[in-house]
Amino acid sequence: MIALGVNIDHIASLRELRHGIEPDIVEAATLCEKAGADSIVVHLREDRRHIQDRDVAALRKKVRTRLNLEMSIAPEIVRFCERIRPDQATLVPERRQEVTTEGGLDVTGHFPLVRNAVAGLQRHGIPVSLFIDPEKKQLEAAVRTGARRIELHTGRYAGARSSAQRLKFLRQLQQAATFAGSRGLSVFAGHGLDYDNVRRIIGIREIEELNIGYSIVCRAALVGLYRAVIQMKRLLR
Ligand code: PXP
Repeated sequence: MIALGVNIDHIASLRELRHGIEPDIVEAATLCEKAGADSIVVHLREDRRHIQDRDVAALRKKVRTRLNLEMSIAPEIVRFCERIRPDQATLVPERRQEVTTEGGLDVTGHFPLVRNAVAGLQRHGIPVSLFIDPEKKQLEAAVRTGARRIELHTGRYAGARSSAQRLKFLRQLQQAATFAGSRGLSVFAGHGLDYDNVRRIIGIREIEELNIGYSIVCRAALVGLYRAVIQMKRLLR
């Protein structure tokens, strides 16, 4: 069975709307784990728009499965990660203005920087995964960095506008997963996956774990709204 990493960034996005303490990020992580999540994923962005340093520190203490920290290779963030020691660091590209991570890490274009970040983190005993587009040149470069894990960016597949396009991107993901598997890399995947488009991804045998955030948090808002209103009505009675 494919493992599920739940990305809870948008629980923190909701909290940051009022700069308060609710919803509690640790409670959210615990609920995910109780429901069967195999890992908890958070992205500590350089602009700290959702997850804060204190969240990662608190999660490090309370997460019972695995804590997967998504991060850029900015020196400040790398130092923080080395101090906190998550169970995995996933290196992603980051641009200030983007709404969410828009593409995979350009390992070929920034090879020495990525290789140094991988080596430094691994020296601290932190396994590193590289979030990359399903392209052979990126995969080959990823192998050369010494990383043992990759996460394939499923964004193009998820955002496809026609079934022909979706099939094309699915094939790319399949080929990339086969190639990565043949090089001994552990293969993860994620971005833009939801309750519908995830079905075909499950067919890619090499994928060990999917990291899913937005669609789960969106569904949680609707599934949870019913109970939340009932609880308030009960109080008012
Ligand atoms: N994997 C990576 C590397 C990501 O950056 C994200 C988004 O933070 C996800 C998975 C989850 O994407 P989504 O929120 O679209 O499910």
